[in-house]
Amino acid sequence: MKAVILLGSKQKVTVEFNLVGSEFDSAGEASSKIKRILQQIGIRSDIIRRIAISSYEAEMNVIIHAYRGIMRADIYSDRTEIILKDEGPGIADISLAMQEGYSTAPDFVREMGFGAGMGLPNMVRCTDKFDIQSEVGVGTTVTMVINH
Ligand SMILES: Nc1ncnc2c1ncn2[C@@H]1O[C@H](COP(=O)(O)OP(=O)(O)OP(=O)(O)O)[C@@H](O)[C@H]1O
Ligand SMILES: [Mg+2]
Repeated sequence: MKAVILLGSKQKVTVEFNLVGSEFDSAGEASSKIKRILQQIGIRSDIIRRIAISSYEAEMNVIIHAYRGIMRADIYSDRTEIILKDEGPGIADISLAMQEGYSTAPDFVREMGFGAGMGLPNMVRCTDKFDIQSEVGVGTTVTMVINH
C-alpha cells in the first residue's frame, strides 16, 4: 500500500530523531526516514534529492564528529526546515571548517569513505538557507531550509 499524506498550507509534519556519535551501523537512517516521508507527501524528486543530501551530510557530521544529538525536520507545504543540535567538541574556526577539502576526520573514518571535507560545502549548495552556530566544548547547531 502506498500512503499519501496531503499537507495543507497551514499544516506541518514534524519528525525527530536521536543521533548517537560513532554509531555507524545505523548511520543515515534518520535522513532516509525523512526522505521517505517527503516521497509520501509527494514533494518533487529534485527537491527531495537536495533535502536528502543535506540532511545525510548533517546527520553524518553528528555521528562522526560529535557525541550525541537530535535531528528534527519540520515539513511544511512550501518548505522543509531541518535542525540538528549536538553535544560535542564544537568547531573552533567555522570559516575554515566550511572550506572544501578541510577535514579533521581520523583515518578509520576515512577508510569508511568519509572525511573528504565536502559535507558542509554540500549542505550550503543544496539548501536555500544554511546556518551553523558552534561553541567549543559544548556543541554545534545546524539549521537548514529547503524551499519546495
Ligand atoms: N557537528 C560537528 N561537530 C564538530 N565538528 C564538526 C561538526 N561538523 C563538522 N565539523 C568539523 O568541520 C569539518 C568539515 O566538515 P565537513 O562535513 O565539510 O567534512 P568531513 O565531515 O570532515 O568530511 P565529509 O563530510 O566529506 O565526509 C570536520 O572535519 C570537523 O572538523
Ligand atoms: Mg561531513
